Amino acid sequence: MSELDLPPADLAARYDGSFPTVAQEPASPQGTGSHSDVLSFTAMASRPLFITFEGLDGSGKSTHLRRASAWLEARGIPHLVTHEPGGTPLGDALRAIFLDPRWGAVDGTVELLLVFASRRQHLLEVIEPALAEGRHVLCDRFTDSTRAYQGYGRGVPLPLIEQIDQVATGGRQPDRTLLFDLPAEEARARGHSPSRRARGAADRLDAEGLAFYERVRRGFLELAAGAPERFRSVDSSGLSEATQERVRETVGAWLGMDVEVGG
Ligand code: TMP
Repeated sequence: MSELDLPPADLAARYDGSFPTVAQEPASPQGTGSHSDVLSFTAMASRPLFITFEGLDGSGKSTHLRRASAWLEARGIPHLVTHEPGGTPLGDALRAIFLDPRWGAVDGTVELLLVFASRRQHLLEVIEPALAEGRHVLCDRFTDSTRAYQGYGRGVPLPLIEQIDQVATGGRQPDRTLLFDLPAEEARARGHSPSRRARGAADRLDAEGLAFYERVRRGFLELAAGAPERFRSVDSSGLSEATQERVRETVGAWLGMDVEVGG
């Protein structure tokens, strides 16, 4: 019986922080990889990794996540792509509430509780089962976004965030995190908010000013500096191709792929 077949209560009862956070057994070989003039792979990671992509809105992280997934897909590396807030039917409903501009300014702790409700469901229903099946998970945002946006951005005390995180996830951390960094002003200029506004679909966080996004950026940078073994920061202010190359090198190394990057 797979994790997904378990009644939710059963699965939830085991998710008390002692639930295996990563598969401890080596996963079966993950595809043979393919050879080309510029890339070759000789070894694969021994266990599935939970990798998160973080950064400001407009940092390019979602585009690079999609590209990284296509790159892995072409090489037969089993993985799952998902996102937060959302990633499950319940989570997507919470996301719609979270981003709905009708509420205007929302207390940071209310935001915190909404994103952690979505996150727990996501871990139970999607992330942990995929890892248990031997697939890597590439997740667009996770708890570092909460620390950066609700903590640094809204001013919710970081110890409170860690407390709720313990309750909601048992303190689950990603195995690795890619941070797409660029100045907040640049991210705002190239962010999706102008296009969303043009479509009449601006979300609640699009309405925040530059100072908010500068605090969020500082948050991400401090989080990365505080956990160098987990984070890799990628400069996403330059050419997209250069960023993509760096993403491949980094993800390839994390997954134990012997990657020769030549163009
Ligand atoms: P997205 O556009 O990258 O999908 O993210 C939606 C928005 O939600 C984005 O502005 C960041 C925000 N957010 C938080 O404020 N806290 C969180 O914990 C997460 C996951 C996202």
